[in-house]
This record gives sequence, C-alpha cells and structure tokens, in this order.
Amino acid sequence: MLISGRGSNLRALLAACADAAHPAEIVSVVSDRAEAAGLAFAQSFGISSTVIPHPSRQTFAAKAESLLGDQRVQLICLAGFMRVLDSGFVEAWRDRMVNIHPSLLPAFPGLYPQRQALAAGVRFAGCTVHFVRPEVDAGPIIAQAVVPTLPGDDEASLSARILGVEHRLYPLTVRLIAEGRVHVIADKVEIDGWRAPRLSALNPRAPPRKPAIGWSRTPVGV
Ligand code: GRF
Repeated sequence: MLISGRGSNLRALLAACADAAHPAEIVSVVSDRAEAAGLAFAQSFGISSTVIPHPSRQTFAAKAESLLGDQRVQLICLAGFMRVLDSGFVEAWRDRMVNIHPSLLPAFPGLYPQRQALAAGVRFAGCTVHFVRPEVDAGPIIAQAVVPTLPGDDEASLSARILGVEHRLYPLTVRLIAEGRVHVIADKVEIDGWRAPRLSALNPRAPPRKPAIGWSRTPVGV
C-alpha cells in the first residue's frame, strides 16, 4: 500500500485482511513522508513499512519497484498517496494498481473533490476505486459507493460521510480482485458473479403524501 498521510483506508484494509477469511494479505506499506500518521497502523498490525522519499518521480519509482519486487507484491493499493507516479511505473503495474478517490469519477478528479461536489450542487457524492492510469484519477472503474449530500453540508461533513463508505468499499474491492473476479476488458471492468443492487435512490425523496398546510398545487406546463 502506498500512503502519504492519515491512513484511515490503510487501517480499514489492514483490519479486513487480518480476518483469515479475507483472500488478500497486506505485506508492505510505503509512504513518501516519514511523518505520515498511517505508518503507525502498519506497525500496530506488524506489517513492514518503509519511507521512500520523493525527490523525483523516477527516483521514487526505481526504489519502490525494487522493494515491491523483493516482497513479491501482486497488487498495489494507493490510499491517500499524494504524488503523481512516474508513467513508466504506472504502465508496468497496469491493471495491478488501484486507487481510491472520494468522488464519483469521472466527476471531480484532482484535489478537493468534496469541495468541488458541493460547489457543483450535486445531490449525490461518493467514492470510486479504479485501476490506475498515468492521468490523474483516471482508469477503469471497479467499484463505487454513493452518499447523499445534505442541507447544511460543508466540506468536513461530506468528507466524513464519504470516508465512511470508503472504508467499506476498498476492502470489498480488494477482496474481489484477490478472488480473481475482476477483469479489464476493452478498458472497462467486468466482475464475475457480481450482484448489482436493484435499488434506486432519489434525493430529495418524494414528498410526504399529505401536503403540509399552506401548500398549493403548482401548475406545471409541458
Ligand atoms: C481518502 O479520502 C482517499 O479517498 C483519498 O485520500 C484520502 C485518504 O485518506 N485518495 P486516508 O489517508 O486513507 O485516511
């Protein structure tokens, strides 16, 4: 796993993979920042962690490649890793490197996606796990989770609501990949045995059947 900071998604994955029934094993945590709070989670789970500074994309890529090769890593998970990776490294790990982003991609890539979502006035926000391509926050979408935006939301409240579903979505997605059920076909993802949710959601929901006092019927022209 590659992190740069808080590491709450790392912690969620470590907790999920600590269950013997989970098919993935986390073998290595890499941070580009020695101060990353998430490194403590790796330590508390007894997982090897390494700080690889990032003087340049190429230097970081060469050191990471050698470390991941030594540890026989099969999948790289980016979780709050705040650097753009060397495009050669990304291509070398094509369809073997995933990222989680706190928006419903392709909407709101890049920095401050929750702020972008609120500024756009969307009724739903969420998060996306996708395979990584050289462009920022781009690549075949594997899984998404949706949350509503609520009246009075600010960036902090929306971010917290999205983070709650990130912690469920990332372990689920890694499970599907580790089970060999996720395939990239023509740059789109197909998942074996996928059960699609049948629910739709409205936001706002339909109003109550009995109109509140003072409502009048609004003529609607077609
Ligand atoms: C998460 O919101 C993730 O989607 C984004 O960066 C944040 C990292 O949070 N890429 P954490 O370090 O996992 O707590």
